Amino acid sequence: MEKSEKIYARSSRLLLRQFSQQDVDSFYLYRSSPEVAKFQSWENYQYHDAEIFVRKQSQSVPNQPGTWFQFAIALAETNQLIGDCALHTLLAEPRIVEIGFTLAEEHQGKGYASEAVRVLLNYVFNDLRKHKVIAFTDVRNEKSIRLLERVGMRREGHLLENYMSKGLWVDEYQYALLESEWKNR
Ligand SMILES: CC(C)(COP(=O)(O)OP(=O)(O)OC[C@H]1O[C@@H](n2cnc3c(N)ncnc32)[C@H](O)[C@@H]1OP(=O)(O)O)[C@@H](O)C(=O)NCCC(=O)NCCS
Repeated sequence: MEKSEKIYARSSRLLLRQFSQQDVDSFYLYRSSPEVAKFQSWENYQYHDAEIFVRKQSQSVPNQPGTWFQFAIALAETNQLIGDCALHTLLAEPRIVEIGFTLAEEHQGKGYASEAVRVLLNYVFNDLRKHKVIAFTDVRNEKSIRLLERVGMRREGHLLENYMSKGLWVDEYQYALLESEWKNR
């Protein structure tokens, strides 16, 4: 593991850590997959984009109002990158954060994404002391919806034509979890 690679949180199988230079190839491989990008904003993702992304994230710190911080999701045993989860600290109200998540296709269907999101929620409420977590998902993204409900997030909105994806206006669900709900879960 590189010296500068900070670990933010962990579970039995996973680490949420800082991105580092060694992640570029694995990150590019899953980011450029059309299946992974199907309900996401990006398309035609290039290796150069991955290099810029990893360089920026390896130098960033979480919890800065108005910024997105991406945690690398790595297997605890090997430190292999398998995906990422995002923390967007809102500029107007930094006690509310938005999260996002992506997993390489070959690591899906094993409960890793929901394990990573539970670790992230723990970090957000226990360490960062946030008031509320929100997440948006394309209404067609069944795997994402199942994950959000599996970790206990509550659907609190259906936003019509809220997002431009691959040339189409698509509906999104907004999910949320309050600190009080997290504590009483
Ligand atoms: C959304 C996404 C992260 C979900 O990944 P995932 O692997 O399906 O999610 P989970 O970690 O919750 O895994 C759950 C699946 O693993 C299975 N599983 C196997 N072993 C498991 C275990 N030990 N614990 C829990 N679940 C396990 C579950 O049965 C479930 O399968 P099912 O969905 O067929 O019922 C993934 O589809 C993805 O990266 N998509 C592309 C990016 C994207 O669209 N992100 C969302 C943007 S809002």
